[in-house]
Amino acid sequence: MKEGDMPTIRVRQDIWELGTETEPWHPVIEGYAKAVRAMMDLAGQTPGDPRSWVNQAAIHERNGPSVFGRLEAQCQHGCWFFLPWHRMYLWQFEQIIRSHLGGAGDDWALPYWNYSDNPDHRKLPPAFRTETLPDGSSNALYTEDRNTAGPRVNAGEPLDGVAVSVTDAMAEQVFARSTPGTTAGFGGGRTNPLFHHSAAGPAGPLEITPHGSVHVQVGGPNGLMASFGTAALDPIFWLHHANIDRLWEVWRRAQPPRANPADSAWLSMGFDLIDETGARAKMQVNDVLDTAAQLGYTYAGLPAPAPAAAEKELIAMTDGERPAEMIGAVEEPVVLAGAARAKASVKLAAPRRPREAGLIDSAPATYLHIEDVVGEANPGLLYGIYVNLADGDEANPDSPHFAGTVSFFGIEVASGEGEGEEAPHRLHYAFNISNVVERLRAEGRWDPNSLDVTFAPVRGLERLGQAAAAPTVQIGRVSVYVQ
Ligand code: C2O
Repeated sequence: MKEGDMPTIRVRQDIWELGTETEPWHPVIEGYAKAVRAMMDLAGQTPGDPRSWVNQAAIHERNGPSVFGRLEAQCQHGCWFFLPWHRMYLWQFEQIIRSHLGGAGDDWALPYWNYSDNPDHRKLPPAFRTETLPDGSSNALYTEDRNTAGPRVNAGEPLDGVAVSVTDAMAEQVFARSTPGTTAGFGGGRTNPLFHHSAAGPAGPLEITPHGSVHVQVGGPNGLMASFGTAALDPIFWLHHANIDRLWEVWRRAQPPRANPADSAWLSMGFDLIDETGARAKMQVNDVLDTAAQLGYTYAGLPAPAPAAAEKELIAMTDGERPAEMIGAVEEPVVLAGAARAKASVKLAAPRRPREAGLIDSAPATYLHIEDVVGEANPGLLYGIYVNLADGDEANPDSPHFAGTVSFFGIEVASGEGEGEEAPHRLHYAFNISNVVERLRAEGRWDPNSLDVTFAPVRGLERLGQAAAAPTVQIGRVSVYVQ
């Protein structure tokens, strides 16, 4: 910025608006490819430079042995720091990319991959599945290390609709909850103190889908995107996260308007990052809440901001929620093995409290929890969760039985051993299944005394290929709550 200039607000654009199947190479995308190549080359020339491609990815989670002095394994998942931490990480990365672009970098901003709003855009953007740049040199945005089982994203096969759905995330009115038995809230559950990778509660619905589901559908059984330590080595990681960051802004502007937390434990939390000079830089959550004023960027196509007055009412609304009541659980582990279906039957008790029992007010909300999940590696496929699916029924995400998707992104880290505060918290998913219960009730397929939960891969067997022999996942507990 020249002296006297107004601060520039850079616009992060939809990559599908910049590059099409026939014309993939917009200057913004080509600039990204060149800068990524320069960061990859830096890793060979100056391995200790924190701005190199591998060292940037290590900030998320290290892959392989630890390197002394390097910033490693900082990513925040499964809690209310998920969104602000990734926002900081992306913003610093964007500055580093810009530093490679000379004058053309002045208004360069990271594009986002919006896979949700147009079914044609569920394909990996073309510049990422093209092996060469227009000048014939090799394209740094391309990697072979992606899903080869299905969808084969490098071949242009689209992600599944259930992997990119924002319905559950956008239905959340509250950013962060700590109410036992419910969902975590849009941005993830409250946690204090800070945990290493994830908190004790469930991940927020946005983090589950589309976030985790897209990671696993792009990465598949052996690709980079499917695990914490390698995800940021795939150049599409950064556009996926730009989209998640954009969805946070879309959510805040929804009607009725939704508010970020006002708790000082959230606002004052600080994280170490690496700036474009390679130095460590600390950022706090309250430094990154207004993207235009504090960070100098916005997104193309955002709805108008919500009026500020209404936000105050919403902050008040997040307090004093009553805990949900558990009405049934199975603690027999459920084992998911490749393409096979697995089932758990939960005996349900009548809720003790009159409101939960539906005796006063309207029907209670029902929540399904999938917890204590362990496994050595990500199986690389998505499992749909179905309620009361008969053994002969097809597992179809369009059926009234469908309750959500689990992708197990991060399972290899969350299943590790550790002591005390360093002990990883195992993956935990929570779904608001009130609509499913209502639909099943209307169809006469609801039993107040028991509930079956079926896990089945979201793709047909014939398309699963090598994923049919995927690593197993063990679910320690399935439980049902009402509120
Ligand atoms: Cu920290 Cu999408 O991952």
